[in-house]
Amino acid sequence: MKARILEILRSETGVVSGARLSADLNISRVSVWKHIRKLQEQGYSIEATPKGYCLKNSPDALFAWEFPERQDTIHFLEQTDSTMAIARDLARKGKPGYTVVVAGRQLKGRGRLNRQWHSAEGGLYFTVILRPQLPPVLSGRVNFAAAMSLVDTLAQLFQIEARVKWPNDVLVGERKIAGMLSELEADSDQVIYVNLGLGINVNNDIDPFQQTATSLRKILGHAVARKEVLGCFLERLEERMQPAQLEKIVDEWKQHTITLDRRVRIVTRQVVTEGFAIDIDPNGALILALDDGETTTVHYGDCFHQ
Ligand code: BTN
Repeated sequence: MKARILEILRSETGVVSGARLSADLNISRVSVWKHIRKLQEQGYSIEATPKGYCLKNSPDALFAWEFPERQDTIHFLEQTDSTMAIARDLARKGKPGYTVVVAGRQLKGRGRLNRQWHSAEGGLYFTVILRPQLPPVLSGRVNFAAAMSLVDTLAQLFQIEARVKWPNDVLVGERKIAGMLSELEADSDQVIYVNLGLGINVNNDIDPFQQTATSLRKILGHAVARKEVLGCFLERLEERMQPAQLEKIVDEWKQHTITLDRRVRIVTRQVVTEGFAIDIDPNGALILALDDGETTTVHYGDCFHQ
């Protein structure tokens, strides 16, 4: 109902009477008033006069009702430990693909390799449940599809030309604007779910420990609506997840990466490998030419460009 009230208020520049809302929505005027009050409490600036209601301003909100086509699949939490934990629970309970858990803040945001992900107010933190028809060995393609969907989104909404860095980062210039984490459950021959967690620096202050990061607000010089970013990303992701698109995703990713044809150092908790990044294999692993002339394939790790 809130989605529909907002839609009507947004379509009018002036005041909309309670009687009109009540008739259009087929609910009582008292009920209209209750929804309006709730919206006001959530930060929507709605002027209530004897003639009716007028929407003056909307907050940078991620409530499910801000995504009218996805209301049933978006779970918004003002604050949580990590969207990954909630999404895992929902995935195990059988929620469908494209169910999204999005949080205003995370208290224990998780980064790759068990690092913390600073999740201050104003950033976009979400996990999307995906159920691709893929064997586990090809599941890495999903991460590539997500990274490319964000590249598409930044180009479409803000004409920002972003690049991808192996394994899962999205950068603008040489600065990281988004990180991605994935969690998978699979049978021996089929993925059951892949949960993709994205942290996108939108309007948040940058983590003081991540001096090599940037945000959309910093690049554009003004804040942007996070719901536009999330909505566009989900649309692009649904396209990129089509089987025919997934077939060519590694090639497309390669056209947008800054990792290949340069010397890199890959760090895991066990080993450090240095070499020249020559290619990505069909499963998304990085192929390195080592100094002794051998080649090696690296499946995960932190990548430092040298
Ligand atoms: C990285 O670059 O290290 C990956 C960062 C992933 C952060 C996102 S924020 C939403 C989701 N919930 C988490 O706890 N982590 C991911």
